[in-house]
Amino acid sequence: MVSPQGYALITGASSGIGEEFARQLAARGWSLVLVARSQDRLEQVRGELMSAHMGIDVVAIPLDLTVSGAPAELFQRTQAAHLDVDLLVNNAGVGALGEFASLDLNRVRQMIDLNIVALVELAHLYLQPMMRRRRGGIIHIASVAGFAPLPYSAVYAATKAFVKSFSDALFEEACQRGVHVMAVNPGTTETNFFRVAGESPFSHRARMQTSAEVVRESLRAFDRKKSSIVTGTSNRLLVVALTLLPRRWITSAVARAMRRANIGVPGKGQ
Ligand SMILES: NC(=O)c1ccc[n+]([C@@H]2O[C@H](COP(=O)([O-])OP(=O)(O)OC[C@H]3O[C@@H](n4cnc5c(N)ncnc54)[C@H](OP(=O)(O)O)[C@@H]3O)[C@@H](O)[C@H]2O)c1
Repeated sequence: MVSPQGYALITGASSGIGEEFARQLAARGWSLVLVARSQDRLEQVRGELMSAHMGIDVVAIPLDLTVSGAPAELFQRTQAAHLDVDLLVNNAGVGALGEFASLDLNRVRQMIDLNIVALVELAHLYLQPMMRRRRGGIIHIASVAGFAPLPYSAVYAATKAFVKSFSDALFEEACQRGVHVMAVNPGTTETNFFRVAGESPFSHRARMQTSAEVVRESLRAFDRKKSSIVTGTSNRLLVVALTLLPRRWITSAVARAMRRANIGVPGKGQ
């Protein structure tokens, strides 16, 4: 892995997988830039990490990344403060479950703005100085949901398919210039995600991974210079099945499961 001389910038660091990246990277000696909307929560994480790890700096920047120009503002603020970002963890993301036609269109647009637009803009902004220094890394949080179309989670799954495709291509371009790009594909993980996205039949699996497990596997894969990783053995088996089974069979099985759980009914699972 890139050695912790500069800063690791983590989006969505106020909870779940992003917060756990902050904890495990701080334990490896990284200084951090933490980004999310919840200022109080970011300050709490910042305080805990600063007192637990001597010699690291932790900066909290509260920001709504769906606001137009927010990624550029974030980049300018880190540049102005001379915070050299050697590792970008593009993690912030939301889901929205329900029948596509019944979802609030603003909510759908915000999901695309966060999961795709902000992620691409941040990668573009921070990749350039990394390439000039010929050092650095970018971790993109995709999902096993990006491996197949998911009825009643149609746009979310499509945003994650975008992240996966974008990252796989970027890995090849960036490695020529000394920068390592990796996509992480977790399955259902114990976080606030489903509280925001809405509960689904897949959010109650008997054995979900914890954020700590997802991040431990991710950092190990990043150390080994992998281009992408599916975390968790059962998720890896699921991805093998998703790539082997006919797409139409998968989409109709998922649609039936979602309808049984009333996810497709307007007003439910929103
Ligand atoms: N949990 C799962 O089952 C699962 C599975 C596969 C992939 N993932 C992916 O993992 C990533 C992290 O999700 P999580 O599971 O850790 O969920 P989470 O606990 O809900 O965390 C989401 C993070 O994103 C931040 N965020 C949301 N909207 C934002 C905005 N407009 N601007 C800036 N930050 C924003 C949230 O902070 P604020 O609310 O304070 O802004 C929070 O820190 C997402 O990309 C998700 O798609 C999750």
